[in-house]
Amino acid sequence: MIFVTGGAGFIGSNFILDWLADPHAEPVLNIDKLTYAGNPYNLSSVAGDARYAFVQADICDEQAIATLLSRYRPRAILHFAAESHVDRSIHRSDEFILTNVNGTFNLLNKSLHYWQSLPERERADFRFLHVSTDEVYGSLAPDDPPFSETSPYSPNSPYSASKAAADHLVRASHHTYGLPTLTTHCSNNYGPYHFPEKLIPLVISHALSGKPLPLYGDGQQIRDWLYVSDHCTALRAVLARGRIGQTYNIGGWNEQTNLHVVQTLCDTLDELHPRARGSYRELITFVKDRPGHDRRYAIDARKLEHELGWRPTESFQSGIGKTVRWYLAHGDWVAQVRSGAYLNWLRQQYGDHPPGAL
Ligand code: NAD
Ligand code: TYD
Repeated sequence: MIFVTGGAGFIGSNFILDWLADPHAEPVLNIDKLTYAGNPYNLSSVAGDARYAFVQADICDEQAIATLLSRYRPRAILHFAAESHVDRSIHRSDEFILTNVNGTFNLLNKSLHYWQSLPERERADFRFLHVSTDEVYGSLAPDDPPFSETSPYSPNSPYSASKAAADHLVRASHHTYGLPTLTTHCSNNYGPYHFPEKLIPLVISHALSGKPLPLYGDGQQIRDWLYVSDHCTALRAVLARGRIGQTYNIGGWNEQTNLHVVQTLCDTLDELHPRARGSYRELITFVKDRPGHDRRYAIDARKLEHELGWRPTESFQSGIGKTVRWYLAHGDWVAQVRSGAYLNWLRQQYGDHPPGAL
């Protein structure tokens, strides 16, 4: 079987659903602490599948991780579990250090002991795939080339700094002890099951409730948007054929300003779910900028294309269309994640003047 950490989150749950859609796929054990961002409901369609199992555990828990490894003997670990929201990391970073750094360290340590105990054949097959981010490379100027695998590390937020620390520990585990690791750096994902504190689902949810659509600063920051199922395909390719010890960048070849993203969402909603009067664009509201806001991220994914033949299949237009349709059809999911924790975060972010909670 394979282990997936953080499989109840946005990308992890998409990965598990995508993995199990293949009738020949190996079983999956999803190890998730179920923080505010983890939602087992994302996986209700596979809950009855004999190939799927879930364990609520913290990746920092030494005993739990060691026991799971010796009991289930996975042939691979895909490590998604993390605190993932930049704005939260700015307010308070403790959990980011605990999970992203200490948790990854614990997982690596326990994986190393487990891997060293395996018979030679199983040892050769084992992989530890660490899911990282393009944010570890810092921010690009308008004319800079996109980030490649050799771009220097330059993390700017507590979130990206904690992911960078984890990347270095993964690298050291391979270099020093030979643990068969793979590291991926993906750009901003979007698609189904995206928690509505992040830009795209937040804008859709607010628009549908007639609430302001908050754009930080001038809205001219650039992100390289990757549809989540394209990301899952890339991860499967890296797991199957990636070279041990290597890093691979995964991006959508799809740079967009935040303003353009929000306008595209408004136009798509105008078409699929028109307001009684006017356009959703009227709800766009410029708010105070994020401290230390990175201006531009962009990924050069040619290594993945040349070595493993992967390219994204979704265009921005088609991906946004699918995403908006999914949110329109899954109001129940959005209602379910409207939790106290989320409302607390909005209060912390905007004080007494929120631009509109879910
Ligand atoms: P998410 O916040 O939606 O989900 C994180 C999951 O990890 C949740 O289910 C949560 O319960 C679980 N988790 C958190 N702390 C844990 C702990 N201590 N032990 C066990 N489980 C724990 O995140 P996501 O957007 O799905 O991101 C997944 C991975 O991809 C992360 O490592 C993130 O850094 C990386 N990434 C995400 C994006 C993106 O656009 N979402 C972009 C680049 C990289
Ligand atoms: P986000 O989805 O938080 O991802 P990240 O910070 O990891 O890139 O934000 C994407 C971009 O959208 C980022 O430049 C911040 C901006 N943003 C807004 O303008 N308004 C918002 O309400 C949010 C959540 C993000």
